[in-house]
Amino acid sequence: MIELKPLIYDKEMLNRIASERNKVLQNLRSTWVTEPEKQREWIMNMNPDTERYFYVFDMEAKHIIDNDSFLTIDNEFIGYCGLDKINHIDSYAEVSLLIFEEHRKKGIGIKAMKKLLKYGFDYLGLHLLYVNVNDIDNIFEFWEKIGFQKEGNLKFRKKIKYLYCDVISASLCKSDWKLIYG
Ligand SMILES: CC(C)(COP(=O)(O)OP(=O)(O)OC[C@H]1O[C@@H](n2cnc3c(N)ncnc32)[C@H](O)[C@@H]1OP(=O)(O)O)[C@@H](O)C(=O)NCCC(=O)NCCS
Repeated sequence: MIELKPLIYDKEMLNRIASERNKVLQNLRSTWVTEPEKQREWIMNMNPDTERYFYVFDMEAKHIIDNDSFLTIDNEFIGYCGLDKINHIDSYAEVSLLIFEEHRKKGIGIKAMKKLLKYGFDYLGLHLLYVNVNDIDNIFEFWEKIGFQKEGNLKFRKKIKYLYCDVISASLCKSDWKLIYG
């Protein structure tokens, strides 16, 4: 089972996020290097009116941690996701998601995104969620599989390795989400 837990300050977990982000910068909205020491600042300046971020956990993967023969069982931290630029007046937000490299292609991204969509539509009562996807490596197929519909290409909006690529703008509205997920 995949669970989302609010992203609070935890140095180790935030460092992990920074290192995983830096491996896939070309896929991300902000393609500048994530500096671990700036992560605390990011959390401290987070405004819950406009941003809600979560750690993604796999609750079935149990790890036994031996802290000087003190045995505890922990769930596995496998990524993070969030809603950004939340606009309560027009009732929309931008989604983001990163699953750590070793956990990809196992259906986890879809499960985490389903939870985030439910949070955005049901809990926050938003009307539409959107994503901007750099048009490389067929990543958009992931968003299509979830139900996001392409709205258009933002021409040459991202510079990746000296080349300009398009950004695909896509969205999913609440009524379509209800039709797909019941
Ligand atoms: C994109 C990402 C979140 C997908 O997570 P994931 O756990 O690997 O995805 P899933 O296993 O749930 O994939 C579900 C479906 O999406 C599609 N998909 C996933 N990753 C894909 C990729 N890189 N290219 C094309 N299709 C992809 C596949 O159709 C897959 O279905 P299949 O398993 O039947 O082939 C993950 O690759 C990731 O974190 N990448 C780095 C960060 C990133 O790109 N975030 C998105 C920014 S817009």
